[in-house]
Amino acid sequence: MHSRQDAKRIYGGTARTRRALVWAAPMLVVAAAALTAIGAAGDAALGTRSYDDYDTPEYCGTSCHVDIYRQWRQSMMSEAFTHHWDEIEYFDLAVPHAERDENVAEVKAGCNGCHTPLAFLAGDVVPKRPSENTRANESVSCEVCHTVVGFEGDTPFNFNWISEPGDNKQGPRSTGESPAHEMVKSEFLGTAEFCGTCHNEKSPYGAWVKSTHLEWKEGPYAAQGVICHDCHMTYAPAQTASMGPVHPDARQHLFHGGHDKGKVRGTVELRIHPDIIEAEPGEPVKFTCALFNQKTGHNFPTGSVEDRLLWLHVEAVDAVGKVYHLPVDPKGFEGEEYTIAANVLAYQDMGIARDKPDFAGVQRDGIPVGDRIYRQAYLDPQGRMTIQQWNTKSFAVDYRLGPRETKLETFTFTLPDDVAPGELTVTATLNYQLLVKPVADFLHVPEEESAVTVVNTHATSITVLP
Ligand code: HEC
Ligand code: HEC
Ligand code: HEC
Ligand code: HEC
Repeated sequence: MHSRQDAKRIYGGTARTRRALVWAAPMLVVAAAALTAIGAAGDAALGTRSYDDYDTPEYCGTSCHVDIYRQWRQSMMSEAFTHHWDEIEYFDLAVPHAERDENVAEVKAGCNGCHTPLAFLAGDVVPKRPSENTRANESVSCEVCHTVVGFEGDTPFNFNWISEPGDNKQGPRSTGESPAHEMVKSEFLGTAEFCGTCHNEKSPYGAWVKSTHLEWKEGPYAAQGVICHDCHMTYAPAQTASMGPVHPDARQHLFHGGHDKGKVRGTVELRIHPDIIEAEPGEPVKFTCALFNQKTGHNFPTGSVEDRLLWLHVEAVDAVGKVYHLPVDPKGFEGEEYTIAANVLAYQDMGIARDKPDFAGVQRDGIPVGDRIYRQAYLDPQGRMTIQQWNTKSFAVDYRLGPRETKLETFTFTLPDDVAPGELTVTATLNYQLLVKPVADFLHVPEEESAVTVVNTHATSITVLP
């Protein structure tokens, strides 16, 4: 994927590693084999290591790094290969698709480069299913991250980290004694680029289908030096090993994101107000809703954007409890039709993996027609909307909430003739779903993946005159 010439590496600063490199450099010229021995990156690293080169998370976490281990266990990092939706998407869609379509053949191995890097490095592709309990189940383990010494190229993406397993563990400190291993102070692990090696992804068609790090880099947080770790691996005074000292700034291995409802709730603040506070039946009232993204360091949604559904639902309730649904006022931008819920079919390319070329698709949104959706629409090579990021060639529109961005939406409601006089309450609710429900139902993904989380809500009222 990358030429060795433009390789840029960031190494941990110990004399010991530097010496090893100086020693290794002339070897590279002589023997190509030595090149892989000091750590290949991206696609080139496939099959260059064995599982035995790496310790298990249980080894690291059972008696020494107990708290870190438990935190990691609760995070999606420890389930990146075993989680039900990951298993379904990889084994039931990506693998059969890669076997039928040579354009995407590389993802059969490539998915594992981020989801179970040790399997990828060991050349264990396709790994056995999670129920077989192989070491692929370790997913993104301690050793995956703590053996990374840098990345190749200028932009971190598609698992272009370089892993150097062995006695040296990369981390934030070089001081301290460990009976189990050497501690090497890494300049790289504490950067956003480290996260970007897996949190940016380019599809086989060259589309940036995951760009969390790139979104962050363009946004206000990067400019102010606030990195991924400051929101996802926060500092607390704690021991980091059971026999070690308390550090005032111990990195907590929380990695909480879309799967943590508490992290998602309150991400966006909502306010809704009317233009007039009294109106008669037949009169139009314009409600304006402001959505302020106060919490994410990147767009919301980010990451698996092709799966996520974030939508604004507005309802009015009159004095006798009758409910009216208010569709959003269109703004007229290009591709807007993808951002307003509609009764249309999509995701026809799931038929490739299932060997049903004429598959009609499933409902695109599965939510009330007329609601505003904050999404980026992924298109397959035929221009149809897809949740298969590896089969994505282009995008129709990107209408997500940027970091610290405020978007305004209007809802013009012409009061019906039979609306009850008295107080009319209008409530805006921003909802979030990890996986669009019609897709989850079609693929039999367990309910929790399409459960609705309320991000925020706000209400206002007007008086309906008799
Ligand atoms: C200012 C705080 C902040 C910073 C900085 C930040 N994030 Fe987040 N991140 C959040 C919040 C809040 C959420 C939860 C809402 C959501 O799912 O987007 C989140 C969600 C995520 C998710 C889950 C997305 C999903 O749909 O499952 C990932 C992955 C993620 N962040 C990675 C990163 C990476 C990588 C960086 C650095 C390049 C980063 N974040 C920087 C606050 C932050
Ligand atoms: C996704 C990558 C990732 C995974 C997985 C991961 N870590 Fe870390 N770990 C980091 C980063 C990043 C830091 C902080 C680096 C910095 O701030 O410079 C860190 C810091 C640490 C520290 C030092 C904390 C301190 O403040 O001194 C220890 C110890 C540690 N990790 C152990 C573990 C163990 C044990 C596991 C598995 C149970 C694990 N890590 C899993 C990325 C990871
Ligand atoms: C070796 C690849 C790799 C590296 C490096 C990595 N991640 Fe991840 N991360 C993943 C994968 C894969 C997932 C998806 C897990 C899943 O299948 O849901 C993930 C998920 C996440 C989530 C989402 C959890 C959720 O609730 O959905 C957050 C937040 C996150 N990572 C933050 C980070 C941060 C911060 C860093 C850097 C300190 C980082 N990651 C480094 C591979 C990586
Ligand atoms: C460049 C690294 C990378 C590659 C390659 C990659 N993924 Fe991911 N994947 C991630 C990260 C990081 C996340 C988490 C993003 C988030 O939380 O929004 C993720 C999330 C997912 C999720 C959603 C998990 C959830 O529970 O919502 C699924 C499913 C998934 N990936 C499957 C695949 C498949 C199948 C492939 C191969 C076609 C693949 N991934 C290739 C990094 C990668």
